[in-house]
Amino acid sequence: MDSLIITDVGLRDGLQSQATLVSTHDKLRLIHALFAAGLARIEATSFVSPRAVPQMADADVLLPQVVTPRGARLSVLVPNLRGLERAVAAKAAGIAVVLSASDTMNRKNIGMGLDAATAVCIATLERAASLGLHRRAYIAVAFECPFEGITPSSRVRELALQMTAAGAEEIVIADTTGAAGPDQVKRLVRMLLDNLSAAQLGMHFHDTRGMALANAWTAIELGVRRFDASIGGLGGCPFAPGAAGNLATEDLVLMARQCGLDTGIDLADLLDAEALAQDLVGYPIGGRSIHWLRSTASGPMKEKNR
Ligand code: COA
Ligand code: ZN
Repeated sequence: MDSLIITDVGLRDGLQSQATLVSTHDKLRLIHALFAAGLARIEATSFVSPRAVPQMADADVLLPQVVTPRGARLSVLVPNLRGLERAVAAKAAGIAVVLSASDTMNRKNIGMGLDAATAVCIATLERAASLGLHRRAYIAVAFECPFEGITPSSRVRELALQMTAAGAEEIVIADTTGAAGPDQVKRLVRMLLDNLSAAQLGMHFHDTRGMALANAWTAIELGVRRFDASIGGLGGCPFAPGAAGNLATEDLVLMARQCGLDTGIDLADLLDAEALAQDLVGYPIGGRSIHWLRSTASGPMKEKNR
């Protein structure tokens, strides 16, 4: 059966913009609930400046406490070599660097322009490769930048190729503010597939304009099988104005199930993880399908559907 590989980024992309601090203990509960639901890829935290993102200040103590099931892998976001060192000390199995495709977005996010950020990402990927860590590279604001407008596709391709040359195993095309529609996705992915294989590509959508699932389906039709999603749709970048929640993991899993794509994820167990995430943030969350999913939770969803 054809399958999708889903990375849940709720712990990182989801929690980074939450004002209320979630305790290390509660983050561990959520990570383990996601693993229990069958997620095999989780982006658990980021090793960034605790002043920039207070919610991630516990990364060094969180990571060593995670019990990763066989075949699963945790990854963490690192903005620079300092972050990589911290990740290695905490025994991370995989890292992700983040390179925004505009000068201003890099300055807002990591305090340096595009050229300097590119150099830092290259150095970080090369070092991570020498240490044998799994490597993802985000190309953020890949469709539109909240400060500079439409992102030229040619620049996204150039940065993706530079990151690949530096050792990135997966290029994650991130629609940070949820600005893209299916047609833009089709054009960019087709262009990238001239130089990269579908297996090297991952897509990271936000649902700001309600098009995340349509965008994901467009990429699926072009052969992409790796997707980021976030439990309950939690998400948003604190440095990108207008960025709302991510594509919800439960929406993507439900669509995959209805379209005959295996995810290895059990929807009933995923709903338990979603309920926990909601408890932790303290307000109603959930993707487009959450009401229907909850209403059927005692019926069809209860059957194991891995
Ligand atoms: N982890 C922890 N601290 C770090 C760090 C890291 N990876 N990298 C740098 N620092 C520290 C520095 O030591 C310095 O500390 P000090 O003021 O106590 O001496 C401080 O952070 C500032 O570092 P500096 O190099 O001057 O750069 P900056 O202030 O522009 O910060 C980043 C650069 C990348 C560390 C910071 O912008 C950041 O963490 N951004 C977060 C980005 C993010 O998470 N975005 C959302 C996800 S895409
Ligand atoms: Zn995001």
